Amino acid sequence: MVTAIFPAAGSSKRMGGGVNKNLLEIAGEPILIRTLKTFSQVERVNFLIVIVAAHEVETVEKLLRGTKGLKSWVVTIGGSERQYSIANGLKLLPDDAEIILVHDAARPLISTRTINDVIDAAEKFGGAIAAVPSKDTIKIVDAEGFVKHTPPRSELVAVQTPQGFRREILLQAYEKAATENFLGTDDSSLAERLGVKIKIVASDYQNIKITTPEDMTIAESFLRDTNGKTT
Ligand code: CTP
Ligand code: MG
Repeated sequence: MVTAIFPAAGSSKRMGGGVNKNLLEIAGEPILIRTLKTFSQVERVNFLIVIVAAHEVETVEKLLRGTKGLKSWVVTIGGSERQYSIANGLKLLPDDAEIILVHDAARPLISTRTINDVIDAAEKFGGAIAAVPSKDTIKIVDAEGFVKHTPPRSELVAVQTPQGFRREILLQAYEKAATENFLGTDDSSLAERLGVKIKIVASDYQNIKITTPEDMTIAESFLRDTNGKTT
């Protein structure tokens, strides 16, 4: 079975307002709830681990208790970095979790199709991540602000979540990162250090991460276009 871990313990600095952006509503529903509901629609997903700041645990537990249609869940406390938050969540893995998905709570427009494709590829290859072709040309730059070189766009993808792994791979990746004091910006970068080949799964441009206030407007407009359905 599949356990999904949702980091939602960040400080939402770029959103501003001093509240957890994952609790803000898009089209009348908190971002976190929208995300959890979509994962709950995927048959193979049977457990949800939600990670929030210590002072939010009670509020979020209450919110989830009042939400129908969720798979079994647990709420736990995060850390100062996304990676530490997820490491905390991994302590609560149920025994039947063969595949683990990590998904930013702040990506409420994820489709069940992408979730299923990531699970399939993680089973087959050991690790798989949702991504889209890079729309922008990306430059490698130096510390002085000069261009070093331009990698060909055809070789660049913008990665999203979910990122999915076979249980042993993700646990080993987190262990190695902790031992070696490596701090990565996504889960794949930790698994890559084990030498695991990570499969890229085609996602869509709708699966944005709600980061700044404009993203709220963009997400609401996507939802208007699709009548609230993202699958
Ligand atoms: N996250 C987390 N623990 C942290 C940092 C981030 O669980 N210590 C979560 C966020 O809550 C979010 C996801 O990881 O759901 C992606 O992070 P990001 O979009 O950067 O959210 P924040 O860190 O909250 O935002 P900001 O960087 O603007 O402060
Ligand atoms: Mg952040």
